[in-house]
Amino acid sequence: MVHAIRIHEYGGPEALRWDEVEVGDPGPGQVRLRQTAVGLNYIDTYHRSGLYKLPQLPAVIGTEGAGVVEAVGPDVTTLKVGDRVAYAPLIGAYAESRLAPADRLVPLPSWIEDRQAAAMMLQGMTAQFLIRSTYAVQPGDTILVQAAAGGVGLILCQWAKHLGATVIGTVSSDEKAELARANGCDHPIVYTRENFVNRVKDITDGQGVPVVYDGVGKTTFMDSLDCLRPRGFMVLFGAASGPVPPLDLQLLAAKGSLYVTRPTLFTYVAKRDDMMTSAADLFEVVHAGGVNINVRQTFPLRDAAEAHRALESRGTTGSTVLLP
Ligand SMILES: NC(=O)c1ccc[n+]([C@@H]2O[C@H](COP(=O)([O-])OP(=O)(O)OC[C@H]3O[C@@H](n4cnc5c(N)ncnc54)[C@H](OP(=O)(O)O)[C@@H]3O)[C@@H](O)[C@H]2O)c1
Repeated sequence: MVHAIRIHEYGGPEALRWDEVEVGDPGPGQVRLRQTAVGLNYIDTYHRSGLYKLPQLPAVIGTEGAGVVEAVGPDVTTLKVGDRVAYAPLIGAYAESRLAPADRLVPLPSWIEDRQAAAMMLQGMTAQFLIRSTYAVQPGDTILVQAAAGGVGLILCQWAKHLGATVIGTVSSDEKAELARANGCDHPIVYTRENFVNRVKDITDGQGVPVVYDGVGKTTFMDSLDCLRPRGFMVLFGAASGPVPPLDLQLLAAKGSLYVTRPTLFTYVAKRDDMMTSAADLFEVVHAGGVNINVRQTFPLRDAAEAHRALESRGTTGSTVLLP
């Protein structure tokens, strides 16, 4: 038996329970992992609250982790006992030990530490597809990143800067503004006291930006549209402030023939080849020093409820790791 954080019903952080669970031996195609670090992500709160429904309850939540292979299933040839691996997105991460399909695991190079790996797979591959694929950021672009001091936010700022973009980013405090600035955000805007639409217009000489990356959702979405130049890309990738209500598509014409997309990492890395390509691109930019993975908080895994409270009250910056 090992310990895992499970929910038995949807709810607030108090729904997270430190349960004993049985892991068992890996079946065909599976390995058993001893987990050394688990990533905390906003999607974990959606799974906990029921905003995103799980196939069945009780369930171990969490979608990202790193660890060591401690047993391999009968037909697994790509991994062996002792290999270090990391993964995302794969539900069931908040556990000391777990079973996982071998083909969803990424072998770790020796220079990536376990905590760093657990912090970067989900947020890093998300940043990767957003700025390399959904809208491919070009040198000379000026872009807007909402919640720039968050986990995905800090990676987006650094990577976009590394690609030669000018980065405008929103944050809720002066401390977060400083952190964003130190991570490649040229123009932090404290959106809790400043009108970010006006600021974006000022910074871009009234032109607007070609893309907005918005993981905040409900409270920023409509204003984000007003930051775009004609034919700009509205990339809504999350709902930290709540889901965006249905949209009148006619508005997109009125606001300048805009594009709107609501991408998810699950689609972009559904095929193993795509996942490996995304992870390789991420590892390369981190290795080159273009992106630094900021693990700014750690919590014992058993205190996951406390970590959720911190994340949902805007009390975290950068990435957070839970330690089994
Ligand atoms: N589509 C995908 O595949 C994908 C993958 C990964 C993450 N995401 C999304 O990306 C977003 C960021 O994820 P993350 O894990 O990196 O989280 P995060 O950005 O570290 O945390 C969320 C941030 O959102 C901001 N925020 C604004 N209004 C908020 C509110 N009412 N309540 C709480 N936070 C609020 C806060 O920053 P300020 O205090 O500066 O406002 C907060 O720190 C989330 O929406 C997540 O669901 C999507």
